[in-house]
Amino acid sequence: MQLDQDAKKVLLRKIPHGLFICGVREDEIVNGFTASWVTQGSFDPPLVVMAVRSEGTSHDIILRTRKFSLNVLRSDQKELAAVFFKPQSALGGRFEAAPFSLGDLGLPILDDAVGGVECELVGEVRHGDHSVFVGEVKTAKLINDTDSLILSSTGWEYGG
Ligand SMILES: Cc1cc2nc3c(=O)[nH]c(=O)nc-3n(C[C@H](O)[C@H](O)[C@H](O)COP(=O)(O)O)c2cc1C
Repeated sequence: MQLDQDAKKVLLRKIPHGLFICGVREDEIVNGFTASWVTQGSFDPPLVVMAVRSEGTSHDIILRTRKFSLNVLRSDQKELAAVFFKPQSALGGRFEAAPFSLGDLGLPILDDAVGGVECELVGEVRHGDHSVFVGEVKTAKLINDTDSLILSSTGWEYGG
């Protein structure tokens, strides 16, 4: 059996994605990164599923702290999404571009976005260049119920 790499790439890029800022915190370190591989996984309890690059900084922070936040960006916040995937001079520096508050779980929630949720890690699949993390949503803050940023509107690709 041989995988058709070209077909696989085209087909997997058809999966629609939003764009989110995943937030993590360990002691005084508050970090965040742009994530698109995110979906809901259960109604009750409310679960979200997110794939995180194993070599990224936030990956091991999530494993150690067993929690993460997901901030939903507004459709006009593409520039902010770009800040959060570019390399940073110092860990946590990206949040200088975006004021945030700490939620009840102590995780960063952007002050200006559609809103954000805080999750406790309840499962993980570590296989491949990304780990699949399952988080149970414990807090939710709605700031502005408006259109969210979607990957297809940006011209960027992450997938395939
Ligand atoms: C459009 C786009 C979508 C991305 N989606 C994800 C994602 O779903 N998961 C992930 O781990 N990285 C994703 N990234 C890459 C991270 O944002 C990037 O590797 C970031 O620098 C990781 O930060 P960290 O090392 O501080 O954790 C995406 C990048 C782009 C450009």
